[in-house]
Amino acid sequence: MTSKKKTPDQLRSARWFAPDDLRSFGHRSRIMQMGYAATEWTGKPLIAIVNTWSDINPCHAHFKHRVEDVKRGVLQAGGLPIELPAISVSESFVKPTTMLYRNMLAMETEELIRSHPVDGVVLMGGCDKSTPGLMMGATSAGLPMIYLPAGPMLRGNWKGKILGSGSDAWKFWDERRAGNISNQEWNDIEAGIARSYGTCMTMGTAATMMAITESIGMTLPGASSIPAADAGHIRMSSECGRRIVDMVWEDLTPQKIQTRKAYENSIAVAMAMGCSTNAIIHLIAMARRAGQDISLEDFEIASRKVPVIANIRPSGEEYLMEDFFYAGGLPALMTRIRDHLHLDVVTVSGQTLGENIAHAQVHNDDVIRSTETAIYAEGALAVLKGNLAPDGCVIKPSACEPRFLKHSGPALVFDDYPSMKKATDDENLDVTADHVLILRNAGPLGGPGMPEWGMLPIPKKLVKQGVRDMVRLSDARMSGTSYGACILHVAPESYIGGPLALVQNGDIISLDVDKRTITLDVSDAELAKRKAAWKQPEVRYERGYGWMFSKHIKQADQGCDFDFLETDFGAPVREPDI
Ligand code: FES
Ligand code: MG
Repeated sequence: MTSKKKTPDQLRSARWFAPDDLRSFGHRSRIMQMGYAATEWTGKPLIAIVNTWSDINPCHAHFKHRVEDVKRGVLQAGGLPIELPAISVSESFVKPTTMLYRNMLAMETEELIRSHPVDGVVLMGGCDKSTPGLMMGATSAGLPMIYLPAGPMLRGNWKGKILGSGSDAWKFWDERRAGNISNQEWNDIEAGIARSYGTCMTMGTAATMMAITESIGMTLPGASSIPAADAGHIRMSSECGRRIVDMVWEDLTPQKIQTRKAYENSIAVAMAMGCSTNAIIHLIAMARRAGQDISLEDFEIASRKVPVIANIRPSGEEYLMEDFFYAGGLPALMTRIRDHLHLDVVTVSGQTLGENIAHAQVHNDDVIRSTETAIYAEGALAVLKGNLAPDGCVIKPSACEPRFLKHSGPALVFDDYPSMKKATDDENLDVTADHVLILRNAGPLGGPGMPEWGMLPIPKKLVKQGVRDMVRLSDARMSGTSYGACILHVAPESYIGGPLALVQNGDIISLDVDKRTITLDVSDAELAKRKAAWKQPEVRYERGYGWMFSKHIKQADQGCDFDFLETDFGAPVREPDI
């Protein structure tokens, strides 16, 4: 039973439709033009459904139909659904990187909501940047909202072997480069690795961000773990439609849910899931939209306390998101780390987190481990600092060979992706397995958009010798499905003259994950000399969206939001005059 805090005449949409004036005459006559009768909107919540479907986003292919299920739910609960399409940010196809467009989706979402006659919002997303983009924008808009995750695709299959998105592509690509896989086998892998609509089903950025959104309290319980192709996903879609109507009457706004405690919960869950490194950037940006000052320190604190208990690739050995769902999904995982969670926070269900997970159970102890049988005793991510990264950088210790957690080696530096790719394919490259491969000019401004180039390929010569991991360092990001001793998000980035810009071939770089340090063994005096001689690379954009992006993007440790979109930039935006 919903506890009504609002009356029909207090609905935001009533400002468009209720007054006896010429403007409202226009709104009423134009909604009637679409075939709606007055009884269908009068006194009813209008629900925006922000849908990131497109013909070229395989992860959201089912949204074309699922949106009808959301609408069905809205109608059943006495609302009127309004579908508002938004940019799809298809991770597989958009170049140079969807990260360039996360903030565009956030802006679009915020303005779609603010400018239209709507009272509540259902967000439909899941593929990597779509979750943070939608969440950031809708949080800034501030109307009651609920998130419907796309859900993971089914497990991949090749000759009876289970294949995971991304992770197995990288793995078998190295085998092919080493000459261990035939063309026919490679073609069969291509046909078997992505078998249904839905997001990547490894613990990549998509699965991570959907789980994080649930743990903040912005999805209905269990929503983030349901495979896209499961009939339960259809039922969840209509349930979101029903629930958002009640949330409007209850005036359950995102500000009431997205508290500091809710974000602390999401960081603990991210660690227990063995999350994507991208989670750090997105969570900081999302939290700041909610007015919560989350920083790298918060991840560092949680990473020391919360073990990785989700045995899902790439941190885990074996399983995928489909197995995680059968094992009980996110509510079950949360029961295992309940000591690290604030259970009294309210969620979109109208219940507390504690109430949401009260009856959750783990059905497979190998997929969702206990804290005693964790697959990695400390958290998934570590934040390193030092003269090479004064504002921090990130490594995923759970997904790299343990011998690299403490390592010193000579730098081999590349200034751009094409030259790095060419060199690593050259079998005469002067490189050893101890080298630290460096890619620069791949950060937020330099990339541009901080592409997922951080898992630099192992040089072909070494692959043939059997080398499968080495230390790689960049100001880029990497896919959450990637793995290896990759140090990412170096801040400040090289393109703006951060210390990474000053590294030369042969300089010794040392990392010590236990001490959380990263050091460039070059004197301050020498670095100052190099800095004086340094010249900024050419400007990337002189017009268009890229130009605006370049003027306003913040560094990785700040979440890569645009400065002018952050909550404390100027006075709040007023509601539109009608
Ligand atoms: Fe869409 Fe991985 S490509 S989630
Ligand atoms: Mg990805």
